[in-house]
Amino acid sequence: MSPLSSTAASVLRQGARQQLSALRTQKRGMADAYTKATTASSYSSPFRGTSDRRDTTAIPDFKKYRNSGGENTQKVFQYFMVGSMGAVTALGAKATVQDFLVNMSASADVLAQAKVEVDLASIPEGKNVIIKWRGKPVFIRHRTEDEIKEAEDAKWEALRDPQPDSDRVKKPEWLIMLGVCTHLGCVPIGEAGDFGGWFCPCHGSHYDISGRIRKGPAPLNLEVPAYDFPTEESLVIG
Ligand code: FES
Repeated sequence: MSPLSSTAASVLRQGARQQLSALRTQKRGMADAYTKATTASSYSSPFRGTSDRRDTTAIPDFKKYRNSGGENTQKVFQYFMVGSMGAVTALGAKATVQDFLVNMSASADVLAQAKVEVDLASIPEGKNVIIKWRGKPVFIRHRTEDEIKEAEDAKWEALRDPQPDSDRVKKPEWLIMLGVCTHLGCVPIGEAGDFGGWFCPCHGSHYDISGRIRKGPAPLNLEVPAYDFPTEESLVIG
C-alpha cells in the first residue's frame, strides 16, 4: 500500500469513529427524555377506591347528580309530563282523522245523485224511459207480455254473454239497465236493431229485449244496476 492511500484510510476511520460517538450520545439523550416524561405524568381512576389497594368494586360518588327533592317529586313530574303528552297526541290524532273523514265523505249534491226514485205509474206498457243516474243514462223498459215471452224463450246458453232473462230482472215486466254500450260506451237506440231491443249505431251492436248482446262487437250484455221496488208503483235505482 502506498503512503498516500494509507493516510486516506486512517482519515476515513477517524471520521467514522467520531460519527458513531455522536450517534451514541444522541440516543442516550432521547432515552433520558422518555424516562422523565413517563415518570412525570400520572392518571387517577375514579374506580381505584380509597385505599392503596386496587379495588375494582368501588363505586364512584354520584351525590352531586342525585335529586334532592325526593322520589315522590320526581314521580309527580314524570306523570304530569306523560299525561300532558298523551292528551296533546290524542287531540292531534282526533283532528287529523276528523279532517280526513270530512274531506273523503261525499258532498250533499253527490249524495243526492246516489239514488234516484222513479214513478212507474207514469210509464205505459211497451214504452222506454231514459233517466240520468250518477251521470249515466239508465233505460227503463215496461215490457209487454210478448216481449217477456220472447226474452224468456231465447236460447241464452249459446249467447256470447250467456245469461237467462230471470237473472236480469226482478219483475219480468220491468227491465232496468245502464244505457251504455259495452263495446266503447256509446248510448244505444231503443226499439231498434235485429232483435227488437237496442241498437248501438257506433259500431253496430244489437241487443235483444233483455239487453243481451246478440250481434256486433260488444262483448257483454248491457249492465243491470242495483235497484229495488219499495212499493208497487215506485222504483229506486242505486
Ligand atoms: S260503442 Fe257500441 S258498438 Fe261500439
